[in-house]
Amino acid sequence: MNLIFTKDLVPGMCVGEDVIAEDGFIKLLPQGAILTQVQINSLRNWEIPSIYIDDTSEWTEGKAIAIHMTKKEFIHGYRETFDKVVHAFRRIKKFREGSIAEMQELVDQNIILLSETIGVLEHLQDIRCYSENTFNHSLNVAIIAGVLGKWCNYEGRELKNLILAGLLHDIGKLFIPLPILNKPGLLSEEEFAIIKQHPQAGYQVLKDATIPEGVKLGIWQHHERMDGSGYPMGLVGDEIYAGAKIIAIADVYDAVTSERVYHCKMTPFEALDMLADKMFERLEPVACLTFISNMKNYLTGSSVVLSNGQKAKIIAFNARTGYFTKPVVCLQNGKLIDLQKTDIWIAG
Ligand SMILES: [Fe+2]
Repeated sequence: MNLIFTKDLVPGMCVGEDVIAEDGFIKLLPQGAILTQVQINSLRNWEIPSIYIDDTSEWTEGKAIAIHMTKKEFIHGYRETFDKVVHAFRRIKKFREGSIAEMQELVDQNIILLSETIGVLEHLQDIRCYSENTFNHSLNVAIIAGVLGKWCNYEGRELKNLILAGLLHDIGKLFIPLPILNKPGLLSEEEFAIIKQHPQAGYQVLKDATIPEGVKLGIWQHHERMDGSGYPMGLVGDEIYAGAKIIAIADVYDAVTSERVYHCKMTPFEALDMLADKMFERLEPVACLTFISNMKNYLTGSSVVLSNGQKAKIIAFNARTGYFTKPVVCLQNGKLIDLQKTDIWIAG
């Protein structure tokens, strides 16, 4: 454990002890949090002179998301990767077979770097503002699966296979008629039955490809749910492949935080409330909790707009009730507000 001056902190370091504000009441950062640039800036704003850093554990090295890239560089890298994804997916649609070597190269050389970039989830949120479609969704799920996989201790080839499954999880949608795929409003029973074929269709198109069985199962089972309410097979609990459970969380998170023809996008805060409240029994609980608690650390210190139009910074989430849309925030004039005691929430 080392006491490090705040001016010397860098993203990716692991917080060794809870960081408490000078008033003694507000926990700015919990022990074990992996520092982001936003959090370091927040510590500077709070004039915290130094904090304890856990520099001994392998945990830090294993879980730190530590590639430095500016937002501009990230967006450039995302767009470059996106163009390659579109190109590769169109070929699969045309010839009904995939160049797996090309996909693996995309994962190994592009997507893994994007998923390990500091601020990756904030950058993805910004990218959502101007583009949404199946290709974006596939790349986003690959990146988020990389982030969550790392948080769940996946590494090396296993992590890359998880990212590959994320990239290809909706490949079966290429064979669903666009009027059904993009239909605003409720689908008829027949239309929904067609949509539900996409995991099987994706598995079919790649079943003879030389990729690990786990990647194929990730594609086939990403809509299965722990309580048996998913599709195509209605598998339950341990019957579902572990990687598919990670892809499911990344898929749900990206889907609800994206603008779709049939719904308005949620903020990351609303999405976390939804995951913790409505989806928790349907998704794998350990991975889901890992995602939620890491996202909590990730979002602490970020700038937000409140429902009354005021700008604020997230100071802390209430550990007891866990309403992510109602944390303690600091207004621009320095005033602290616990949003749970008001009718204000985070709007964006
Ligand atoms: Fe899907």
